[in-house]
Amino acid sequence: MKRNVLITGASRGLGEAIAREFWKTGAHVLLTARGLGALEALRNELGERVSLFAADLSASGAPEQIAAWAFETVPYVDVLVNNAAITGPIGKFWLNDEAAWEETMRVNLLSPAALMRAVIPRMTRGGAIINLSGGGATAPRANFSAYAAAKTALVLLSENIAVEAAGMDVRVNCIAPGVMNTELLRDVVRADAGDVGEEFAKVERMIADGKTMDPSIPARLCVYLASDAARGITGRLISAQWDPWTRLHEFAGELQPSDVYTLRRIVPKDRDKDWETT
Ligand SMILES: NC(=O)c1ccc[n+]([C@@H]2O[C@H](COP(=O)([O-])OP(=O)(O)OC[C@H]3O[C@@H](n4cnc5c(N)ncnc54)[C@H](OP(=O)(O)O)[C@@H]3O)[C@@H](O)[C@H]2O)c1
Repeated sequence: MKRNVLITGASRGLGEAIAREFWKTGAHVLLTARGLGALEALRNELGERVSLFAADLSASGAPEQIAAWAFETVPYVDVLVNNAAITGPIGKFWLNDEAAWEETMRVNLLSPAALMRAVIPRMTRGGAIINLSGGGATAPRANFSAYAAAKTALVLLSENIAVEAAGMDVRVNCIAPGVMNTELLRDVVRADAGDVGEEFAKVERMIADGKTMDPSIPARLCVYLASDAARGITGRLISAQWDPWTRLHEFAGELQPSDVYTLRRIVPKDRDKDWETT
Protein backbone atom coordinates (compact mmCIF):
# COMPACT_ATOMS: atom_id res chain seq x y z
CA MET A 1 0.00 0.00 0.00
CA LYS A 2 1.40 3.39 -0.99
CA ARG A 3 1.24 5.69 2.02
CA ASN A 4 0.43 9.38 2.03
CA VAL A 5 2.55 11.47 4.38
CA LEU A 6 1.75 15.08 5.26
CA ILE A 7 4.80 17.03 6.49
CA THR A 8 4.85 20.63 7.71
CA GLY A 9 7.96 22.79 7.51
CA ALA A 10 9.24 20.69 4.62
CA SER A 11 11.04 23.48 2.76
CA ARG A 12 14.39 23.10 4.55
CA GLY A 13 16.22 21.64 7.52
CA LEU A 14 14.76 18.61 9.24
CA GLY A 15 11.42 18.80 7.40
CA GLU A 16 13.18 18.49 4.05
CA ALA A 17 15.15 15.49 5.36
CA ILE A 18 11.92 13.87 6.62
CA ALA A 19 10.34 14.41 3.19
CA ARG A 20 13.32 12.76 1.48
CA GLU A 21 13.33 9.75 3.83
CA PHE A 22 9.58 9.08 3.46
CA TRP A 23 9.82 9.62 -0.31
CA LYS A 24 12.55 6.96 -0.49
CA THR A 25 10.12 4.45 1.03
CA GLY A 26 7.78 4.96 -1.96
CA ALA A 27 5.36 7.23 -0.08
CA HIS A 28 3.46 10.13 -1.63
CA VAL A 29 4.69 13.17 0.31
CA LEU A 30 2.42 16.16 0.85
CA LEU A 31 4.68 19.05 1.71
CA THR A 32 3.83 22.40 3.21
CA ALA A 33 5.68 25.53 4.38
CA ARG A 34 5.42 29.24 3.60
CA GLY A 35 8.21 29.23 1.01
CA LEU A 36 6.79 27.72 -2.17
CA GLY A 37 10.05 28.28 -4.07
CA ALA A 38 12.02 25.89 -1.86
CA LEU A 39 9.20 23.33 -1.96
CA GLU A 40 9.11 23.53 -5.77
CA ALA A 41 12.86 23.00 -5.96
CA LEU A 42 12.46 19.83 -3.87
CA ARG A 43 9.60 18.59 -6.06
CA ASN A 44 11.65 19.26 -9.20
CA GLU A 45 14.44 17.17 -7.76
CA LEU A 46 12.29 14.28 -6.49
CA GLY A 47 9.82 14.24 -9.40
CA GLU A 48 6.76 12.05 -8.87
CA ARG A 49 4.77 11.48 -5.64
CA VAL A 50 5.23 15.03 -4.34
CA SER A 51 2.41 17.53 -3.72
CA LEU A 52 2.89 21.07 -2.41
CA PHE A 53 0.87 23.67 -0.59
CA ALA A 54 2.04 27.04 0.74
CA ALA A 55 0.54 28.07 4.07
CA ASP A 56 1.51 30.18 7.06
CA LEU A 57 0.89 28.32 10.32
CA SER A 58 0.87 31.58 12.26
CA ALA A 59 -2.49 32.36 10.64
CA SER A 60 -5.56 30.86 12.26
CA GLY A 61 -7.39 28.70 9.74
CA ALA A 62 -4.17 27.64 7.99
CA PRO A 63 -4.12 24.11 9.47
CA GLU A 64 -7.69 23.55 8.30
CA GLN A 65 -6.72 24.80 4.80
CA ILE A 66 -3.75 22.43 4.75
CA ALA A 67 -5.97 19.52 5.79
CA ALA A 68 -8.62 20.42 3.17
CA TRP A 69 -5.93 20.53 0.46
CA ALA A 70 -4.46 17.22 1.65
CA PHE A 71 -7.83 15.44 1.46
CA GLU A 72 -8.52 16.94 -1.98
CA THR A 73 -5.15 15.56 -3.10
CA VAL A 74 -5.30 12.06 -1.56
CA PRO A 75 -8.15 10.00 -0.08
CA TYR A 76 -6.21 9.13 3.11
CA VAL A 77 -3.48 10.74 5.16
CA ASP A 78 -1.60 7.84 6.73
CA VAL A 79 1.12 9.86 8.44
CA LEU A 80 1.20 13.43 9.75
CA VAL A 81 4.52 14.97 10.77
CA ASN A 82 4.11 18.24 12.66
CA ASN A 83 7.62 19.51 12.04
CA ALA A 84 7.33 23.27 11.37
CA ALA A 85 8.35 25.48 14.26
CA ILE A 86 9.90 28.83 15.05
CA THR A 87 12.34 29.88 17.76
CA GLY A 88 10.15 32.71 18.97
CA PRO A 89 11.27 35.54 21.21
CA ILE A 90 14.66 35.13 22.89
CA GLY A 91 15.32 36.67 26.28
CA LYS A 92 13.66 36.90 29.64
CA PHE A 93 9.99 35.95 29.58
CA TRP A 94 8.76 39.23 31.04
CA LEU A 95 10.67 41.21 28.42
CA ASN A 96 9.45 39.11 25.45
CA ASP A 97 7.17 40.76 22.94
CA GLU A 98 3.72 39.44 23.81
CA ALA A 99 2.58 39.12 20.19
CA ALA A 100 5.73 37.18 19.28
CA TRP A 101 5.20 34.91 22.30
CA GLU A 102 1.65 34.18 21.22
CA GLU A 103 2.68 33.63 17.61
CA THR A 104 5.18 31.02 18.80
CA MET A 105 2.46 29.20 20.71
CA ARG A 106 0.33 29.24 17.58
CA VAL A 107 2.98 27.93 15.17
CA ASN A 108 4.55 25.42 17.58
CA LEU A 109 1.51 24.19 19.52
CA LEU A 110 -1.93 25.39 18.40
CA SER A 111 -1.38 24.76 14.68
CA PRO A 112 0.00 21.23 15.18
CA ALA A 113 -3.00 20.60 17.47
CA ALA A 114 -5.40 21.93 14.83
CA LEU A 115 -3.82 19.71 12.19
CA MET A 116 -4.24 16.66 14.42
CA ARG A 117 -7.87 17.67 15.05
CA ALA A 118 -8.51 17.87 11.32
CA VAL A 119 -6.65 14.71 10.32
CA ILE A 120 -7.29 12.11 13.08
CA PRO A 121 -11.03 11.60 12.48
CA ARG A 122 -10.20 10.82 8.84
CA MET A 123 -7.43 8.32 9.61
CA THR A 124 -9.93 5.56 8.99
CA ARG A 125 -7.34 3.00 7.97
CA GLY A 126 -5.16 3.77 10.97
CA GLY A 127 -2.26 6.15 11.06
CA ALA A 128 0.80 7.59 12.71
CA ILE A 129 1.43 11.11 13.94
CA ILE A 130 4.88 12.38 14.76
CA ASN A 131 5.25 15.69 16.55
CA LEU A 132 8.59 17.44 16.80
CA SER A 133 9.61 18.20 20.33
CA GLY A 134 13.05 19.39 21.33
CA GLY A 135 15.03 21.65 23.62
CA GLY A 136 13.09 22.80 26.63
CA ALA A 137 10.50 20.02 26.70
CA THR A 138 12.18 18.05 29.49
CA ALA A 139 14.25 20.68 31.33
CA PRO A 140 14.27 24.47 31.51
CA ARG A 141 15.53 26.30 28.45
CA ALA A 142 16.04 29.73 29.92
CA ASN A 143 15.40 32.65 27.56
CA PHE A 144 13.35 30.51 25.15
CA SER A 145 10.17 30.30 27.22
CA ALA A 146 7.64 30.39 24.37
CA TYR A 147 9.48 27.69 22.43
CA ALA A 148 9.96 25.52 25.52
CA ALA A 149 6.40 25.92 26.78
CA ALA A 150 4.97 25.02 23.37
CA LYS A 151 7.20 21.98 22.95
CA THR A 152 6.46 20.67 26.46
CA ALA A 153 2.73 21.12 25.93
CA LEU A 154 2.99 19.32 22.60
CA VAL A 155 4.53 16.29 24.32
CA LEU A 156 1.75 15.96 26.90
CA LEU A 157 -0.92 16.73 24.30
CA SER A 158 0.52 13.92 22.18
CA GLU A 159 0.36 11.49 25.09
CA ASN A 160 -3.25 12.44 25.77
CA ILE A 161 -4.26 11.99 22.15
CA ALA A 162 -2.33 8.71 21.97
CA VAL A 163 -4.61 7.33 24.70
CA GLU A 164 -7.76 8.78 23.14
CA ALA A 165 -6.94 7.49 19.64
CA ALA A 166 -5.60 4.08 20.64
CA GLY A 167 -8.83 2.30 19.66
CA MET A 168 -8.63 3.85 16.19
CA ASP A 169 -5.22 2.33 15.43
CA VAL A 170 -3.80 5.85 15.38
CA ARG A 171 -0.56 6.30 17.27
CA VAL A 172 0.94 9.60 18.33
CA ASN A 173 4.58 10.05 19.29
CA CYS A 174 7.02 12.91 19.71
CA ILE A 175 10.67 12.93 18.82
CA ALA A 176 13.61 14.94 20.12
CA PRO A 177 15.82 15.15 17.04
CA GLY A 178 19.05 16.38 18.64
CA VAL A 179 20.85 19.62 17.90
CA MET A 180 20.99 20.17 14.13
CA ASN A 181 22.74 22.94 12.22
CA THR A 182 19.61 24.43 10.62
CA GLU A 183 18.17 27.94 10.33
CA LEU A 184 16.40 27.37 13.64
CA LEU A 185 19.70 26.73 15.42
CA ARG A 186 21.40 29.59 13.60
CA ASP A 187 18.66 31.88 15.03
CA VAL A 188 20.42 31.36 18.36
CA VAL A 189 23.81 32.66 17.23
CA ARG A 190 22.20 35.47 15.19
CA ALA A 191 20.53 36.75 18.37
CA ASP A 192 22.01 39.00 21.01
CA ALA A 193 24.42 36.90 23.11
CA GLY A 194 23.16 38.58 26.29
CA ASP A 195 19.56 37.65 25.53
CA VAL A 196 20.49 34.05 24.73
CA GLY A 197 22.66 33.58 27.82
CA GLU A 198 24.74 30.44 28.45
CA GLU A 199 23.44 28.61 25.40
CA PHE A 200 25.07 31.13 23.01
CA ALA A 201 28.67 29.97 23.44
CA LYS A 202 27.62 26.31 23.53
CA VAL A 203 25.76 26.55 20.22
CA GLU A 204 28.53 28.63 18.62
CA ARG A 205 31.03 25.93 19.57
CA MET A 206 28.86 23.07 18.34
CA ILE A 207 28.44 24.76 14.95
CA ALA A 208 32.14 25.61 14.67
CA ASP A 209 33.19 22.05 15.63
CA GLY A 210 30.59 20.46 13.35
CA LYS A 211 29.26 18.53 16.36
CA THR A 212 25.62 18.68 15.37
CA MET A 213 23.15 15.95 14.47
CA ASP A 214 22.75 14.90 10.83
CA PRO A 215 19.01 15.57 10.13
CA SER A 216 18.74 12.32 8.16
CA ILE A 217 19.00 10.40 11.47
CA PRO A 218 15.91 11.91 13.16
CA ALA A 219 14.22 11.75 9.74
CA ARG A 220 14.78 7.98 9.74
CA LEU A 221 13.35 7.84 13.29
CA CYS A 222 10.15 9.43 11.90
CA VAL A 223 10.00 6.76 9.18
CA TYR A 224 10.57 4.07 11.81
CA LEU A 225 7.79 5.37 14.09
CA ALA A 226 5.39 5.36 11.14
CA SER A 227 6.39 1.83 10.10
CA ASP A 228 4.48 -1.37 10.84
CA ALA A 229 7.38 -2.48 13.04
CA ALA A 230 6.58 0.39 15.46
CA ARG A 231 2.83 -0.38 15.61
CA GLY A 232 2.96 -1.03 19.37
CA ILE A 233 4.64 2.27 20.24
CA THR A 234 2.51 5.30 21.09
CA GLY A 235 2.41 8.25 23.48
CA ARG A 236 6.20 8.44 23.78
CA LEU A 237 8.91 11.06 23.39
CA ILE A 238 11.81 9.34 21.65
CA SER A 239 15.28 10.82 21.33
CA ALA A 240 16.95 10.29 17.97
CA GLN A 241 20.30 10.70 19.66
CA TRP A 242 20.03 8.79 22.93
CA ASP A 243 17.40 6.06 22.59
CA PRO A 244 17.91 2.60 20.99
CA TRP A 245 15.07 3.36 18.58
CA THR A 246 16.08 1.09 15.73
CA ARG A 247 15.20 -1.85 18.04
CA LEU A 248 12.39 -0.26 20.04
CA HIS A 249 9.75 -2.69 18.75
CA GLU A 250 11.62 -5.48 20.58
CA PHE A 251 10.71 -3.74 23.85
CA ALA A 252 7.20 -2.56 22.95
CA GLY A 253 5.56 -5.07 25.31
CA GLU A 254 7.49 -3.63 28.26
CA LEU A 255 7.37 -0.05 27.03
CA GLN A 256 3.63 0.45 26.57
CA PRO A 257 2.45 -0.32 30.14
CA SER A 258 5.35 1.72 31.57
CA ASP A 259 6.02 5.46 31.81
CA VAL A 260 9.38 5.12 30.03
CA TYR A 261 9.99 7.96 27.52
CA THR A 262 7.22 10.14 29.02
CA LEU A 263 7.11 13.37 31.07
CA ARG A 264 6.49 12.65 34.76
CA ARG A 265 6.92 14.43 38.10
CA ILE A 266 10.07 13.47 39.99
CA VAL A 267 9.52 12.79 43.72
CA PRO A 268 12.18 12.55 46.47
CA LYS A 269 12.42 8.75 46.39
CA ASP A 270 13.37 8.92 42.70
CA ARG A 271 16.48 10.74 43.92
CA ASP A 272 17.11 8.34 46.83
CA LYS A 273 15.73 10.83 49.36
CA ASP A 274 13.30 9.96 52.13
CA TRP A 275 11.55 13.14 53.24
CA GLU A 276 8.63 11.38 54.89
CA THR A 277 10.36 9.69 57.81
CA THR A 278 13.28 12.09 58.34
N1 LIG B 1 17.52 22.51 14.81
C1 LIG B 1 17.56 21.97 16.00
O1 LIG B 1 18.63 21.89 16.63
C2 LIG B 1 16.32 21.40 16.61
C3 LIG B 1 16.43 20.78 17.90
C4 LIG B 1 15.31 20.25 18.49
C5 LIG B 1 14.09 20.29 17.82
N2 LIG B 1 13.99 20.88 16.56
C6 LIG B 1 12.69 20.90 15.93
O2 LIG B 1 12.81 20.33 14.63
C7 LIG B 1 11.80 20.91 13.78
C8 LIG B 1 12.44 21.38 12.49
O3 LIG B 1 13.34 22.42 12.80
P1 LIG B 1 14.54 22.86 11.86
O4 LIG B 1 15.72 22.92 12.72
O5 LIG B 1 14.55 22.04 10.62
O6 LIG B 1 14.10 24.37 11.54
P2 LIG B 1 14.18 25.26 10.22
O7 LIG B 1 15.35 24.86 9.38
O8 LIG B 1 14.08 26.65 10.68
O9 LIG B 1 12.87 24.83 9.43
C9 LIG B 1 11.61 25.19 9.90
C10 LIG B 1 10.57 24.85 8.86
O10 LIG B 1 9.31 25.33 9.32
C11 LIG B 1 8.74 26.20 8.35
N3 LIG B 1 8.00 27.27 9.02
C12 LIG B 1 8.50 28.19 9.88
N4 LIG B 1 7.54 29.06 10.23
C13 LIG B 1 6.43 28.67 9.58
C14 LIG B 1 5.11 29.19 9.52
N5 LIG B 1 4.74 30.29 10.18
N6 LIG B 1 4.19 28.55 8.75
C15 LIG B 1 4.56 27.45 8.05
N7 LIG B 1 5.77 26.92 8.06
C16 LIG B 1 6.71 27.52 8.82
C17 LIG B 1 9.93 26.72 7.54
O11 LIG B 1 9.57 27.03 6.20
P3 LIG B 1 9.15 28.50 5.68
O12 LIG B 1 10.08 29.48 6.33
O13 LIG B 1 9.28 28.38 4.20
O14 LIG B 1 7.73 28.66 6.12
C18 LIG B 1 10.83 25.50 7.51
O15 LIG B 1 10.46 24.62 6.49
C19 LIG B 1 11.14 22.01 14.60
O16 LIG B 1 9.95 21.53 15.16
C20 LIG B 1 12.15 22.29 15.69
O17 LIG B 1 11.54 22.83 16.84
C21 LIG B 1 15.08 21.44 15.97
